[in-house]
Amino acid sequence: MLEQILPLTRRQKQLVILSFARILPVSSCFSQRFYEHLWEIAPETKELFSNTNIEQQRENLFKAISTAITGLDNTENLIPGIRRLSEGHRVYAVSREYYQLLAQSLLWTVREELGQEFTPDLEESWFSAYQALLNIVTGLSDYASEPC
Ligand code: HEM
Repeated sequence: MLEQILPLTRRQKQLVILSFARILPVSSCFSQRFYEHLWEIAPETKELFSNTNIEQQRENLFKAISTAITGLDNTENLIPGIRRLSEGHRVYAVSREYYQLLAQSLLWTVREELGQEFTPDLEESWFSAYQALLNIVTGLSDYASEPC
């Protein structure tokens, strides 16, 4: 069942894990750029964070991404954390569309960081990894059956 919702090849996982090692040392700049870009392409998402300590949130997001990526080889262990995350995000009124905007911003930020090393192959791997995790989020929280 997990293979169906995580259609990611072994090579793609390795590519994402290896490239993420280049991003780890610049986590703070990375997450700052990430949110700036998200709010540029989707200003409507900014109000969701009106009562948020943004510095703390940058750290929270980066840690969650890091946990997800390092856990790509053992996704069963990721499910309880993703379940908690996805339930919380329903309360924050995060829609499916917002998750796709987050994907755009994430890929943009990785491209900015890696420059020419961000090959089309690597981009596809990151995209697939994010979509695979998103399948778990939306599958667990039943987003698919909601009209929004
Ligand atoms: C897979 C994608 C995402 C990950 C890994 C992620 C990660 C996190 C984490 C770790 C937290 C803090 C813990 C918690 O409250 O659950 C959080 C909070 C939050 N996230 Fe996300 N998130 C994702 C997608 C999104 C999207 C798409 C939006 C909206 C554009 C969003 C908006 C928020 C908001 C509003 C909070 C609460 C901030 C506060 O404490 O005030 N998240 N997220």
